[in-house]
Amino acid sequence: MQETLKYIQENKQRYIDELFELLRIASISADPAYKDEVLKCAGVVANHLKNAGADEVEVCETPGNPIVYGEKIIDKNLPTVLVYGHYDVQPPDPLELWNKPPFEPYIQKTEIHPDGAIFARGSADDKGQFFMHVKAFEAMMQTNSLPCNVKFIIEGEEEVGSVSLAGWVTENKEKLACDCILISDTGLYSREQPTVTTGLRGLSYVEVEVEGPDRDLHSGLYGGAVPNPIHVLSRMIAQLIDEKGKITIDGFYDNVLEVSTEERAEMNKLKDDPAKFMESIGLKGVEGEEGYTKLERTSIRPTLDCNGIWGGYTGEGAKTVIPSKAFAKISMRLVPYQTPDEITEKFKNYFEKIAPDNVKVKVTPHHGGMPYVLPSDTKEFQAARKAMETAFGTEVLPYRSGGSIPITAMFEDVLGAKSVLMGFGQDSDAIHSPNEHYGLFNFYKGIESIPLFFENYAQ
Ligand code: BES
Ligand code: MN
Ligand code: MN
Repeated sequence: MQETLKYIQENKQRYIDELFELLRIASISADPAYKDEVLKCAGVVANHLKNAGADEVEVCETPGNPIVYGEKIIDKNLPTVLVYGHYDVQPPDPLELWNKPPFEPYIQKTEIHPDGAIFARGSADDKGQFFMHVKAFEAMMQTNSLPCNVKFIIEGEEEVGSVSLAGWVTENKEKLACDCILISDTGLYSREQPTVTTGLRGLSYVEVEVEGPDRDLHSGLYGGAVPNPIHVLSRMIAQLIDEKGKITIDGFYDNVLEVSTEERAEMNKLKDDPAKFMESIGLKGVEGEEGYTKLERTSIRPTLDCNGIWGGYTGEGAKTVIPSKAFAKISMRLVPYQTPDEITEKFKNYFEKIAPDNVKVKVTPHHGGMPYVLPSDTKEFQAARKAMETAFGTEVLPYRSGGSIPITAMFEDVLGAKSVLMGFGQDSDAIHSPNEHYGLFNFYKGIESIPLFFENYAQ
């Protein structure tokens, strides 16, 4: 292991140069205009895997974006770790809020990253993170210390719901047989308090439409006597959460697993500074469900948020109009044992129920995902905790994240293997936002932790 860590140390600068090359590719999955960049990125990832020492490297076609596969089987009797990551990124807009162009990576120091952070779209989510695995694998190959088999799946549609991956995994079940799945696509609680993520929330996502009059109307001639769909929609959305922060949808909490008092006490051991949290996002006060701490509200409790709302005239100047239609996108983060199908159905029923008789409403479901929990008494969790404790030289705690990686629950169903979420990002990395960045410290700690995980897990 010493030799592997030494190899990593000696190759640090090259790792950054190679990652920069990957970050220069605008592999935006949500926008078809970037298809060529997506394909180019898949090719570059495949080359990296090959050069690092993987066999059977393949850019696998799917109905959507290709999946990059590679493996190194050293002994069929040894365990197999399947590494998952994604090379696609979120759209970078609003562009004007970036200090430098999103696909021209550079390093700059920040308060949280005094030793520097890499700024670029995808630096933390997820190129900088899956690339740690490619480089850790290279280091193990170069120093002859790979202790078990490894397979890689790096997909290109995570940010748009992993549409092709689900089918592909089912079709390639035998090829992907493994003992556990290792994923770096989440965050640490903080640099000082490293964590292994033990839970992810699920997701239900809907788009709603409220239709009032059958066409736009003059707001002087008709105003006062017709339902304005924007007003109706606003009232309906406001009604979805009550004064106590509870979601009012009938049966919404029916399947919510109440987390035990012991686990709640354990998770609240993480030092939380609400004042600092508010300051970091320019707020004077937090909100949420009564009876739960801020940490609990963002992890073990389900939520509902309107992500966007539009309708009527939004251009320059004034136009006196009562619009025919109003729209909104609404996401709900789910916890065990809620399911996206169940919650989407309950949302639809409730939304139709609360709609006044003089409007029409339409609810269209988008992609969703199941929540995921990795119990802390599993071999997988223990191997990750020990690896990170060695790399960071401090105690590592379990931590449930509020984000979602829907594929984890699917992996468990289809491959019968648990996912370990050993992520090294931080909440302040601005993923999905302008000026996304990833700490150099985090990047290197990740590369060191991975061979240690393999060593612990293979034992
Ligand atoms: N890597 C994130 C999820 C994440 C980030 C989990 C940080 C925990 C901590 C992933 O790429 C992502 O953005 N997921 C989406 C869901 C997906 C269905 C679009 C999300 O959480 O919104
Ligand atoms: Mn991600
Ligand atoms: Mn993401």
